[in-house]
Amino acid sequence: MSPADLPLAPATFAARVLAWFEVNGRRDLPWQQSRDPYRIWVSEIMLQQTQVATVIAYYQRFMARFPDVESLAAASLDEVLRHWSGLGYYARGRNLHRAAQWVMIHGGGRFPVDVETLQALPGVGRSTAAAIAALSTGARATILDGNVKRVLGRFLACDAPPGTARDRALWATATALTPAQGTDAYTQAMMDLGATCCTPRRPRCGACPLQSDCRAARTGQPEDYPRRPSARTVPEVALQLLAVTDADGRVWLERRPPRGIWGGMWCLPEGPPDAAPADWCTQWFGTPPERCAALPEIRHVLTHRRLRIQPWQLALPEGAGEVPQRPGVWYLPGTPPPGGMVRPVLDLLAQWPASSPFGPAAHPLDAFGPA
Ligand code: ADE
Ligand code: SF4
Repeated sequence: MSPADLPLAPATFAARVLAWFEVNGRRDLPWQQSRDPYRIWVSEIMLQQTQVATVIAYYQRFMARFPDVESLAAASLDEVLRHWSGLGYYARGRNLHRAAQWVMIHGGGRFPVDVETLQALPGVGRSTAAAIAALSTGARATILDGNVKRVLGRFLACDAPPGTARDRALWATATALTPAQGTDAYTQAMMDLGATCCTPRRPRCGACPLQSDCRAARTGQPEDYPRRPSARTVPEVALQLLAVTDADGRVWLERRPPRGIWGGMWCLPEGPPDAAPADWCTQWFGTPPERCAALPEIRHVLTHRRLRIQPWQLALPEGAGEVPQRPGVWYLPGTPPPGGMVRPVLDLLAQWPASSPFGPAAHPLDAFGPA
């Protein structure tokens, strides 16, 4: 797409988007209070797959504990993932930790602001690198995240199938539209426009500064653009999670193997699908549980799997099974977790059934104190 094919001159496009941002943009978010590239990087990684409303509390806890790249690099991976508990896409947390160590060893401890170096960091792609550069220094760098792809794909009524050819065209358009001045505000404005106005479902075209020139809006079916990939069926996996509790109200946690679902995260042990939970308990904890109860099923969606989780509570009798024949830790809900914990386990421990002899537990993230 050459600039001549655009419905609006780039300067007009940018002026409209910037005027909209002046009135409607978000400017009070915690990561917008500084131009420190480290702080902007952390926020961009968190925002890659998570909504602003969810990110805020995580971001504040993360920054309180890791205020700079040096403190992040020096922390253990468990400590980093502990602050990522429940946020999902845990590779982001692992990459953040690796990237911080790279900056300390090869970057002299100064967080980079140029697009090439940023893009070489684990977990930082072309668009994220450009966002960090533009937001921290105002450099003219072009982003094309999911939000901007949607805005531009609709503005042009792009009906090419998703793929590299379409991405190449959208990158060229995005680059042609990015202004040389005010790139920082423009970058934030485009993300906000996609997040709050040109939303995936039911875009608010009436409030959009591009409406009069938007080709998708003109069709009356803006949601149909840009063309989405055909829906793949995501396989469903059934698993049992076993909440073994001792007489002190502690629950047994194990670290998941590094590969596979929730690699490296702390979790309730996963029972073999064909074994009775009480027998499993007897085998590993040396005693049958005093109480064995199925808890309500949990459904949890991952990128490539839909999980159907059957949790069980297995209460050990007083004085029994303190040293199981498996590596793991006894964890007291409400205290800081040993490392990263996944959302279904956090929710299970938070909603500990009222029928539990131990009563309802505090939410593990409460152990960090108020955000
Ligand atoms: N998504 C990714 N980065 C963002 C940002 N800086 N503001 C709002 N949404 C975003
Ligand atoms: Fe999106 Fe509607 Fe604006 Fe077009 S007019 S960019 S479809 S919100």
